[in-house]
Amino acid sequence: MFKNNGKIYNKFDLRRKIVVYQGDCLDLLRDIPDESLQLIVTSPPYNIGKEYETKSKLKQYLGQQAAVIKECVRTLSPHGSICWQVGNYVDNGSIVPLDTILYPIFVDFGLKMRNRIIWHFEHGLHCSKRFSGRYETIIWFTKSEDYVFNLDPVRIPQKYPGKKYFKGPNAGKYSCNPLGKNPGDVWVIPNVKSNHVEKTIHPCQFPVELIERFVLSMTNEGDWVFDPFSGTGTSIVAAVRHNRRGAGAEYERKYIDVAVERIEQELRGTLKTRPMNRPVYDPVLAGNSLTKAPWTYLDDSEQPLLIKERKLKYGTL
Ligand SMILES: C[S@@+](CC[C@H](N)C(=O)[O-])C[C@H]1O[C@@H](n2cnc3c(N)ncnc32)[C@H](O)[C@@H]1O
Repeated sequence: MFKNNGKIYNKFDLRRKIVVYQGDCLDLLRDIPDESLQLIVTSPPYNIGKEYETKSKLKQYLGQQAAVIKECVRTLSPHGSICWQVGNYVDNGSIVPLDTILYPIFVDFGLKMRNRIIWHFEHGLHCSKRFSGRYETIIWFTKSEDYVFNLDPVRIPQKYPGKKYFKGPNAGKYSCNPLGKNPGDVWVIPNVKSNHVEKTIHPCQFPVELIERFVLSMTNEGDWVFDPFSGTGTSIVAAVRHNRRGAGAEYERKYIDVAVERIEQELRGTLKTRPMNRPVYDPVLAGNSLTKAPWTYLDDSEQPLLIKERKLKYGTL
């Protein structure tokens, strides 16, 4: 069985198992041989002025993305996958869904789209002039028709596992797959915000469980998983956890330090993460006292006034 020996290198070599490179991803990509990576999974900068990016004109941003995508396509195995996770670019209050403008770039490089996955989460900015954004997308492309896709390791529990066929030759037998069902293309996975167990100093980390699903379904043991914009090393953590090789590039020294620490913790078995397939926390089911609205029973609160005003103004509560 393939096992990681725990050594983290900063230069790419196919014989190695873990590579964390500080610098521009294009420099690391130049050292990677053609068709050697099985899975490239990443969340690039969205060009929205986060602390790690300089906002540029959309055309310039797309040009930079195309240069990285071109190298990713060159280094991708004929049986491999590219998963690009993006949200919206915001231009003067008007939103541009980045997947829609990146899609033609992938197609022009000859890739085939397999899914556009909606990643839904509950936490984020509260907007006042549009509905708050509560999903982002992951666009999944392959280089050929002959691509690795292992569904069994990522099946999720059936809704009605006890359901049986009621007629036909299988009448009376269980109708569902006992290993679980296909997770579908809408994934409800909490994002890493302040009280998430995986939170570090990075403003937009992947949750490890999100990447584990790609690693398990799109690679086999010993394969390379690569993240060109690896931040805190989440994709490498997910790769190492499942006995794959992992490599990533990151500009910022402070995120490289966090990535190295997290990978080392993963290798020691001490990295705390949210487990795959744990149901999303429901505060009402959990009996959290804060879920009761105090203004339904407190007379001196100002909130009843606001509610009465809304009823008068909009005819609704
Ligand atoms: C959206 S974050 C990725 C976070 C990552 N998914 C994680 O789980 O931590 C994008 C990262 O790409 C880095 N970055 C931006 N341009 C880069 C480039 N050309 N080469 C390498 N890293 C880059 C940024 O510093 C930032 O940390």
